[in-house]
Amino acid sequence: MKPLKSCCFMLTCFTFFGLYQCSFLQKEKPNPFYAEISQYSSFQPALYTQYEQLYQQNHNLIYTLNLVNHPSFLKKGDYDSFSFGEHHLFVNPYFRLKADFTPHQLEKVTLPKIHRQSEVMLIDQKTQEMYQQLFTEATSLGLELVIFSAYRSYAYQSHLYEQAKNPDYVAKPGASEHQTGCALDIATLDTGLSEYFEQTAEFHFLKDNAHRFGFILRYPKGKEHITGYPYESWHFRYVGVSIATIIYQSNLTLEEYIYQYVEII
Ligand code: DAL
Ligand code: ZN
Repeated sequence: MKPLKSCCFMLTCFTFFGLYQCSFLQKEKPNPFYAEISQYSSFQPALYTQYEQLYQQNHNLIYTLNLVNHPSFLKKGDYDSFSFGEHHLFVNPYFRLKADFTPHQLEKVTLPKIHRQSEVMLIDQKTQEMYQQLFTEATSLGLELVIFSAYRSYAYQSHLYEQAKNPDYVAKPGASEHQTGCALDIATLDTGLSEYFEQTAEFHFLKDNAHRFGFILRYPKGKEHITGYPYESWHFRYVGVSIATIIYQSNLTLEEYIYQYVEII
């Protein structure tokens, strides 16, 4: 065969082979897992094999995406806070608020609170509305809840951090949920924010009922390696009733809930 003819022959063969392959692929059964996971905006085609392997273990598409896309989510990082659910802000040591962030709907705390001279205690409006309902039920049971801390500005958090005797218990500025206005330190006047609060009827009521009003015990015992903070029996965070109920019933931290149920973009 002359070189030109052999070249034409080979080109024809490749073309037919290519067409055959295409028609073979088209006849392949559609992959339902690919079809579903590729619709998520955080899906990265290059990581497909990893998604497929992990999904076989956990059967949760969002968790699979997050595990592959953000393997260090629970361990380290330096990111901006982001919102989840109905505009709740996720804040922890790695996902922080900017210094100039102030919640939109702050109002004065009108429920029993610790008296500190010249302090006007502020709180997110919806958080106070739901805490009011919780407080009313607690009071009807003879319990005496007192708010020790609600909203804290970035500047005030910096001051607290610098003055702290034990800085492990105080978030760095920007890393405190108190800056959202949706976190409350609640205890009794007798115990204050101490290890003794855990032994009160007030604590037991909060532990098992706070979720019905949208609050979670944010830094639980045994999950310190996930939340990044020591156990705090007094720190409650408003995240809405449906999320709080999942977190309570499944014994999750907010970090674990987000990793498993919220697509991290
Ligand atoms: N005590 C918690 C971690 C805070 O300072 O926000
Ligand atoms: Zn707190």
